[in-house]
This record gives sequence, structure tokens and C-alpha cells, in this order.
Amino acid sequence: MTNLYTACCLVLWCAASALAQQQPTISYISQPKTVSIGDTVDLDCSVQYAYDFPVLWVKVKNDDVMFISTGSSQIVPDQRFSIRHDATTSSYTLQITKLQETDGGIYQCRVILGQVSILTKDVRLFVRVPPVISDNSTRSIITSTGKNATLECFARGQPKPRISWRRENNNLLPTGGSVYRGNVLHIFNVTKNDRGIYYCIAENQVGKGARKNIGVEVEFPPVVVADRRHYSQAINYPVEFQCQIEAYPTPSVVWLKDGYQLHTNQHYKISIMNSGHELTTTMLRVHAVERSQLGNYTCRAINKLGTSEKIMTLVESDSVVCPPACDSQYLSGSSSIRAAVTLLAVGLLCTRTVP
Ligand SMILES: *[C@@H]1O[C@H](CO)[C@@H](O)[C@H](O)[C@H]1NC(C)=O
Ligand SMILES: *[C@@H]1O[C@H](CO)[C@@H](O)[C@H](O)[C@H]1NC(C)=O
Ligand SMILES: *[C@@H]1O[C@H](CO)[C@@H](O)[C@H](O)[C@H]1NC(C)=O
Ligand SMILES: *[C@@H]1O[C@H](CO)[C@@H](O)[C@H](O)[C@H]1NC(C)=O
Repeated sequence: MTNLYTACCLVLWCAASALAQQQPTISYISQPKTVSIGDTVDLDCSVQYAYDFPVLWVKVKNDDVMFISTGSSQIVPDQRFSIRHDATTSSYTLQITKLQETDGGIYQCRVILGQVSILTKDVRLFVRVPPVISDNSTRSIITSTGKNATLECFARGQPKPRISWRRENNNLLPTGGSVYRGNVLHIFNVTKNDRGIYYCIAENQVGKGARKNIGVEVEFPPVVVADRRHYSQAINYPVEFQCQIEAYPTPSVVWLKDGYQLHTNQHYKISIMNSGHELTTTMLRVHAVERSQLGNYTCRAINKLGTSEKIMTLVESDSVVCPPACDSQYLSGSSSIRAAVTLLAVGLLCTRTVP
């Protein structure tokens, strides 16, 4: 009796454990794969004891599920997808050809055991994508001396691109050195040397990388960078004062004599030339110096960040000074030969001094 009971129990136990061993499982799924656009990829899923249950390949994205296949039949209407079932290994191989960027993501092998019971295993597919610099990167900035500025650069791509910064002409970055790595480049205490083109470079070993040029304009108050303090000329001869100003934005320029603003008229001519690099050159010409015109002249430059000025003094000289009195009209009472020689000398001088 006892023996019979034991035997019975043993049989039941054996049956139960055999059933337990035959629980369906996903025994294998491919490792994550990194592929290039246009490639073909195979994703394998092997199951055990799942003969009676549907085996599906799906693609999951957030909460969305795209059904690709069930058993050996394809669901998704895309000729690039195909499904192979190998009965001997109980594997379901999903093949995708002509891979596209959008094929990247998580693929899931599912065994449906019941309404609320499913087995899943995931494999992630990475599609290599060359870097593309995002629109939320800094386009250009206008800042001013003494401020702090921030340049930002982001890029998409697979693998995630690395961002580095360089400057035009390999100029030194505010961080020191000619290359800086990171999404954000800070410029503390901006100086006018920080102005220019910055390059944001995104690289991920796919393709040749991406580059974006970011212009940095630095506004700064005017500085008179080149001037002569002393001018002399003989009465009735012309004189030309010159003043070079660095400023951004472009300054307005005025010339003054004894506190009065000068204008272009029969006595004076004012010219202002803006060249690159925030440089302004201005010239004041006195057509024929009169005694009352000797004294101090002021060149004054003004922009929204400040004002700068330089004072130049004009004194009377005994001889005619060239430049600017180099024209033949100024060479009176001399022989034609001397005039020619003077002209030649003067011409050389002029070509050397006039920029
Ligand atoms: C800019 O866009 C990228 C995606 O292209 C994103 O990862 C990043 O967080 C964004 N940065 C900012 C500051 O909005
Ligand atoms: C610039 O940044 C530094 C360091 O964070 C800070 O001490 C300074 O006050 C900032 N200057 C300006 C003008 O915001
Ligand atoms: C900012 O730079 C200027 C010019 O280089 C310097 O005189 C000043 O001390 C700097 N200010 C700070 C807070 O570093
Ligand atoms: C001209 O300026 C100088 C200083 O730059 C000054 O010493 C001199 O008195 C000024 N002359 C006149 C006539 O204002």
C-alpha cells in the first residue's frame, strides 16, 4: 500500500517535472548589431518548446509596436524584410536588406503563451549615420568686451558624434590651445581678439564629419590705433591729418578745431573709409593753411560703447612739407629740372607713405 502510494507519487512528480522542463523559452537572440546604411542584417531568435505558440518578431519604439512576422509569415508589407524558419534549430531569422537610418532600434522576439503571458527578448540594431549638426546649435553671436559668451553645438548621428571646436586660421581658442572638445564653449571676459569665425566639428568615424561656422562679433568702444601728434606746414599749403580707429560697431567720426566741429567746405575736406577688421581711417585735409588754422585738431570716434579721441597739433613750418604738398602746382619759382627731380623724390616718398 505504502509502496504503491510512493510509486504513484513518483510518477506524478516525474510528469510534473517533465512538464516544467517543457516550459517554452527563448533560448537565443542575436547580440546587438551595428550596421551601415544599405547593409543586410540577420536577426536570429531561437525558441524551445514553443511549437504550440505563436512566435513573433516586432519592432518596439516607445509604446508603439510594429508587427513584422508571426511564425514564418511576414506581416509588414516591406520587401526589404523577410523571415526564415529553421525547424531543426527552432529559429526564426529576420532578414532586413538595404538598411535605412529608420531601421535602427529595438527588435523583439515574442512568444505568445496566453492573453496576458508573453516571453520577450530584445536585440538592438544600430545603424551608422554620419553626423548632422542640429539646428539648435548657435548660429552666430554678438557680444561685447568684458562679457561672457557661450557657443553651443549639438549633432545627431550614430554613433553619437563627438564635438570639437577650432578657430579660423587655427587661432588660439579662449580655452587655450587650438582644439577644444565638448558641446559648449565658454568665452569668459570677452576681448576683441575673440572675434572671428569658430568651427564646430562633429565626427563619429562615419563619413567625413560635419562642420558649422559660427561667427562671433565682439562690440567694443573705439580705440585710436595710429596717429601722428605733430604736423607742420607752410602757410598757404595743404595739410592732411590722419586718424585710424578700431571700433565695432563702426563708429561715427567727427573732427574738431578748438571745440568746433569741422565740415567739408571750401577750407576742409573730411573723408572716412571703413576697411575690414573693424578699422576706420579718417582724414582731414586743410586745403591751404591759414595762420588762424594752426593749433590743435581733434579726431573723435563714437559708438554705442564709448568715445575715443586724439589731439594733433599743427604748427607753421618754413619749408613746404610733402606730403601732402607734392603737386607741381606747389613748386613755384624753381627751375624745371629741380622741379622734376623734386617731383621724382616726392613721388617716391608719396608712394612709400601713402598706404
Ligand atoms: C539640441 O538638439 C539635440 C538633438 O538634435 C538634443 O539632443 C539637444 O539636447 C538639444 N540641445 C538643446 C540645448 O536644446
Ligand atoms: C563671467 O563668468 C564668471 C565666472 O563664472 C563670473 O565670475 C563673472 O561674473 C561673469 N561675468 C559677467 C559679465 O557675467
Ligand atoms: C578682463 O580682461 C581685461 C583685458 O584683458 C582685463 O583687464 C580684466 O582684468 C579682465 N577681467 C576679469 C574679471 O578677468
Ligand atoms: C594743444 O594741446 C596741447 C596738449 O595736447 C596743449 O598743451 C596745448 O595747450 C594745446 N594748444 C591749444 C592752442 O589749445
